[in-house]
Amino acid sequence: MANSFIIAVAGKGGAGKTVIAALMAMVLKDVSGLRLLLIDGDPSTSHLARILGLKVERTLEDLRKNVIKVAGEEDEEEKEEMVKTLDYYLLEALVEDKGFNLLAMGTPEGPGCFCPANTLLRDAIETLSKNFDITIVDCEAGLEQINRKVVRSVNKLLVVTDPTLRGLQTADAIRETAYKYTHYQEMGLIINRVRSQGEARKIIKRAEEISLRVLGTVPEDENITKLDTLGKPITELPSSAPSLKAVKKICEKLNSIPFFWDISHTF
Ligand SMILES: Nc1ncnc2c1ncn2[C@@H]1O[C@H](COP(=O)(O)OP(=O)(O)OP(=O)(O)O)[C@@H](O)[C@H]1O
Ligand SMILES: [Mg+2]
Repeated sequence: MANSFIIAVAGKGGAGKTVIAALMAMVLKDVSGLRLLLIDGDPSTSHLARILGLKVERTLEDLRKNVIKVAGEEDEEEKEEMVKTLDYYLLEALVEDKGFNLLAMGTPEGPGCFCPANTLLRDAIETLSKNFDITIVDCEAGLEQINRKVVRSVNKLLVVTDPTLRGLQTADAIRETAYKYTHYQEMGLIINRVRSQGEARKIIKRAEEISLRVLGTVPEDENITKLDTLGKPITELPSSAPSLKAVKKICEKLNSIPFFWDISHTF
């Protein structure tokens, strides 16, 4: 496959970004010959890794701290420069397990801003994604990583929302920010945790009124709730799970868009 596609999954806190990213990963992992990279870009937890049942030994932040320590007493700016150039370290932090390749950002320690960590994340995404056909980035909630141009250039910006007007307002704000700070070919809205067809129709209508393009809806799925309660990975979802089926449909829709990835025959 010639292209490297980057898909950023953004949206308001708790909307289901990580679940949607994980379900997409489960669908795409089985596509033969497709090299898939997952980036857990949430600085507060490595939730994506956890729900996929993957163990993260080393995060990007661990590497950054380690390199800074080894670099000794160099001046701060130089240290950050050093970290940026050490691309090969990235491979050390790549978790390869259960058919997934995943890089977790990790949590920057101490007070102060996340800028150096976010900058490294951006460089890591841009460097590593070249070796994969599709990279899915599970972003931090809200606008920060878009503001900071962490996802500076992506093919698809997927915004996840719950079926509420507040969720749509956040999606609208993300669109506005992304318009200024991110190069993206296309943005699509995924409405998650939909409880009925009627609810889906209403919220799709509201989204379209503000010209948000709806890629698809994902139902509230008690299979996910059950696994959540038991602390089991989402990979244990049955293939008949409505949420998994809905995400598969969304992947097929993405695939039908010209110049996107060409894997239609494999679904
Ligand atoms: N379709 C669904 N059906 C049932 N439960 C869901 C569904 N989508 C998400 N959830 C549950 O909602 C909660 C929040 O989901 P998730 O962690 O994916 O959100 P998030 O947007 O990534 O949150 P954060 O902003 O904290 O990163 C989780 O407990 C998850 O299992
Ligand atoms: Mg999350």
